Amino acid sequence: MIFTTSLLFSGLPIFALTLIVWIGHACFKYHQYERMRVQFGCSPFKHYPSWDRILGLDYVYDMVKAIKENRFLEFQKETYSASGAKVWRANFLGNRMIYSSESENMKAVSTSHGDCFAVEPIRVGNGAITPFPGRGVSSSDGAKWQASRDLVKPYFDRAGYSNLQRLSQHVDRLLDKIPKDGSVIDMQPLFQRWFLDTSTDFLFGETVNSLDKPENQWPFRDMIAVMAGLRLRLQLSSFLFLHRDPEWLAACKRIHVFLDTYIEKAYKQLEDEKNGMQATYASGEARNDFLWTIARQVPDKLELRTQLTAVWIPSNETTSILMSNTLFALARHPEVVQKLRKEILKYGDKLLTFEGLRSIDYLRWIINESHRLYPVSLQTVRACVKNTSLPTGGGTHGKAPIFCAKGDIVHCNRYLMHRDPDFWGSDAEIFRPERWAEVRPLWNFVPFGGGPRICPAHVMVDTECSYTIFRILQNFKAIEPRDDEPYTAVMRVGPSNKNGCKLSFVPA
Ligand code: HEM
Repeated sequence: MIFTTSLLFSGLPIFALTLIVWIGHACFKYHQYERMRVQFGCSPFKHYPSWDRILGLDYVYDMVKAIKENRFLEFQKETYSASGAKVWRANFLGNRMIYSSESENMKAVSTSHGDCFAVEPIRVGNGAITPFPGRGVSSSDGAKWQASRDLVKPYFDRAGYSNLQRLSQHVDRLLDKIPKDGSVIDMQPLFQRWFLDTSTDFLFGETVNSLDKPENQWPFRDMIAVMAGLRLRLQLSSFLFLHRDPEWLAACKRIHVFLDTYIEKAYKQLEDEKNGMQATYASGEARNDFLWTIARQVPDKLELRTQLTAVWIPSNETTSILMSNTLFALARHPEVVQKLRKEILKYGDKLLTFEGLRSIDYLRWIINESHRLYPVSLQTVRACVKNTSLPTGGGTHGKAPIFCAKGDIVHCNRYLMHRDPDFWGSDAEIFRPERWAEVRPLWNFVPFGGGPRICPAHVMVDTECSYTIFRILQNFKAIEPRDDEPYTAVMRVGPSNKNGCKLSFVPA
């Protein structure tokens, strides 16, 4: 007892000294921040009403709880409304986070102020993604990003416009799997297999054909585990060193082996090409898939895998979720289905082309409406790497510029922007494709982001989705919902519907 008491007293001066240094440092940082804010001509802005202003543990706890309870989207609404503003800040494990649902800030972060923001500090900085995927196009900045972007971009320009023929065989297989006798089918897992098949075809030049061989869908299952682990690792931020997950590492390893098989084959065919043997598909057509277009430019295997992985990641649970969400909404709006079907039938038996698809305005509006209400990517997140300001969110009216300090993390929330009644009107929460006849949303509608980092696959994604919906409605005259559950977002890669998309179809 005497020993413990003496230890306590001998420890006290050290504790008191640490506390004084810490308080002194915090005061210094606060004054430095305020001085810079004034220098940048910015107004103060709202703080999330946390009781823990040091680490924000209550905020972190609420967020983790919301994710676990599949209430992450509701949590977004609740936190903005608790802060009473469209722009506010919170402390997250000692880091200052700025949350914004203002389109002007999204635009500034993505374009005019882009050089003050980066992704590497949040995606690579703490080693979160080093085992998977490494520094590719979506996780690098500056010269490394530009080189990666230049490498991958040409493929998407071409593929987006010219793949309908190749896409059709995958859609034929999908249509074969839809019951014609009105029995119930969950379209979400079917679209996921369809997406795995088209992605492996377009990226690696050969499909795993999981629609016909369900046992081949394991890479997609592993990718869900890999992405969930990645999300957790990124969120752990500076506490990552406390985390061990051998299962996650094993799933990463299996995916690496999967990708390496295609890479080795491509390198082998490049060698054969030097000896005059042209690489072709089984059909005899010359090879022109994504891996083939980049493999000849990247002789280092590890670097090639990194670049390939950066495109392979969004090839899981993106387009498939968009399609599932679109059918989910269509099944609940039979009047929209009938109107769209009329447009589709007008097209007749003409060969369906990219231009033909784009000419059907109502189809484009439906897909926009799906992107708007159920964005597959919720937020644009960037680390501030240079003191700067953002155009709006401060002062008493929340419209004055706000200060953004080096080290702050900015979250531009497209989920809330896309449902903001101030822009979209009082029916913002309602699926109404007709609104697209009038609105010109610019930065209020950015499902694919914007500026130099805009999703390079955006034309391809919308083309694939339009084409598939077109073919479904050519073959079926009605789609009926077969569960009463509301859309409930579960956070996997992005949000997807926990209850899937259970429907029955009436053949045409
Ligand atoms: C519904 C489907 C999709 C949506 C909504 C979507 C959305 C996005 C968004 C919001 C970004 C970030 C843009 C930014 O930081 O400003 C992005 C980046 C990216 N997306 Fe997509 N995406 C989709 C599908 C795909 C697909 C299928 C691929 C590849 C086949 C892909 C490849 C990429 C790449 C490589 C980047 C990184 C671009 C860069 O940092 O320069 N995306 N996407």
